[in-house]
Amino acid sequence: MMIDELEKISDSSIMRDNLDFRFFLAGTWKNSSSGKTIEIKNPYNQELIGTVSACSTEEADQVITIAKENLECWIEKTQRERADILRNAAKLMKEWADPLGYILMKEIGKPLKSAKSEIIRTSELFEATAEAGLQQEGEAIYGDTFKGFGKDKISMTYRVPLGVILCIGPFNYPFNLTGSKIAPALMAGNTVVVKPPSQGAITPLFFGLILEKAGLPPGVMNIITGRGSEIGDYLVQHPLVNMISFTGSSETGKHLANVAGMKPLLLELGGKDAAIVLDDANLELTADAIVSGAFSYSGQRCTAVKRVLPMPGIADQLIELAKNKILNLKVGNPEENANIGPLISSHQCDYVQGLIDDALEKGSTLICGNKREDNIMWPTLLDNVTTEMRIAWEEPFGPVLPFIRVHSAEEAIEISNKSEYGLQGMIFTENIDLAFNIAQELEVGTVQVNGKSERGPDHFPFLGTKSSGLGTQGIKYSIEAMSRPKVIVMNLSERGKLVKNCKY
Ligand code: NAP
Ligand code: G3P
Repeated sequence: MMIDELEKISDSSIMRDNLDFRFFLAGTWKNSSSGKTIEIKNPYNQELIGTVSACSTEEADQVITIAKENLECWIEKTQRERADILRNAAKLMKEWADPLGYILMKEIGKPLKSAKSEIIRTSELFEATAEAGLQQEGEAIYGDTFKGFGKDKISMTYRVPLGVILCIGPFNYPFNLTGSKIAPALMAGNTVVVKPPSQGAITPLFFGLILEKAGLPPGVMNIITGRGSEIGDYLVQHPLVNMISFTGSSETGKHLANVAGMKPLLLELGGKDAAIVLDDANLELTADAIVSGAFSYSGQRCTAVKRVLPMPGIADQLIELAKNKILNLKVGNPEENANIGPLISSHQCDYVQGLIDDALEKGSTLICGNKREDNIMWPTLLDNVTTEMRIAWEEPFGPVLPFIRVHSAEEAIEISNKSEYGLQGMIFTENIDLAFNIAQELEVGTVQVNGKSERGPDHFPFLGTKSSGLGTQGIKYSIEAMSRPKVIVMNLSERGKLVKNCKY
């Protein structure tokens, strides 16, 4: 079915035979001269989905150079023309949601329903970015607010694109978190080089077909596939790259920031989002939120709920509610929409298992889970986790949820803020005044009150502090991050002055 579906939306240009995909340069699909490919296998059953080109640094130079060469003409397009192309692309994504969602599910083991909704979500993001781009405004300011200056000095400000934007996405949202960079970059007048994640590279490649059919001129958006470890530094350091929008691990993000040199960065990195649960919380609502937040896509979300800090009066009841909901989660095949599917790799499973083993060795209580078959790890709930355990601080990126019991809001704030991460936090309580006061103390980008941590909806500002990121993503915020002000100051002379009969 996947191959039939694929052939409905592909043409012979995007791939050679047997699902061997080319890379996208200047509007054409190219075979890499490296002669090397990267196999993409379904993490659920190791079925070979296809291969993508392991491009060389020479090809990396080509895609960046082409993007630079096409910048001037793309800037000349009107906002209306750019918005119309994004809208056309959005329509196509909706039409192709089923086949693209199916490929996405196969590539990264995401439940089929979630995979298809990722495509729809990206379609809506493109539409909303077109709207936001059309609302862009500048400003004009008189100089007369300062002594020595008058109304004859006027500054006029509008926004201009930064140039060539390198967009690098992660495996867990390979379509949405690539599209969330492409759309604002194009709307702001930039040209784009995309480096999709190696595991999850096929679905983003279809942005080439989609935008070409949407009317994007050749060379404005180019896609290069290849291992980040092989071509990543070259791409990041390239002198023709003017800005980098990256989503991925904190480790990679910090490395990228070290090698990028002096260019604007938008980094969305790891997280260790903590849920503070006060004694007066609605426990049914809280249990739903932390189980859904911790275990959707098997915990492979930066904004997954990764710590629960419950007060003593409700901890036992909450963990019982959470356990019962976890035991109802379906474990198995993403194609059958199992809630818990495979992690992205066996290596990742080993890492998560190491965190669980460490916690159990140091005295935590296993409530449920701690079972593995191939790349599937059963949802694991740990109680009585202490700050001596690795799971209290490290990002598992897997289906494990630690309860770290606390005795006061102040202690919860201290433990929450001690993390190297600062993406999102949560407070569950009926006392909104107290929630507001606690929220102000949390060193994170976003605090959810009585809700699970999450990035969406995509027009919300989304940012991480500390090791969780740099800059703010989210449609209009991304457009702003991918552009800069241009100021023209008019110094009017006496020549044009009009006579005014002012007595005072
Ligand atoms: P990752 O291993 O850091 O990879 C992210 C992207 O960076 C991939 O495209 C990767 O290419 C590329 N890359 C690797 N080395 C590079 C280098 N030296 N230079 C440039 N690019 C390089 O992250 P992941 O495993 O895909 O995603 C999981 C991590 O991302 C988790 O930590 C998660 O918290 C974080 N994440 C954060 C957000 C957020 O919005 N804050 C969202 C999603 C995920 P290859 O695939 O070829 O290695
Ligand atoms: O890890 C991906 C991050 O962007 C999460 O997105 O909408 O599932 O919170 P969301």
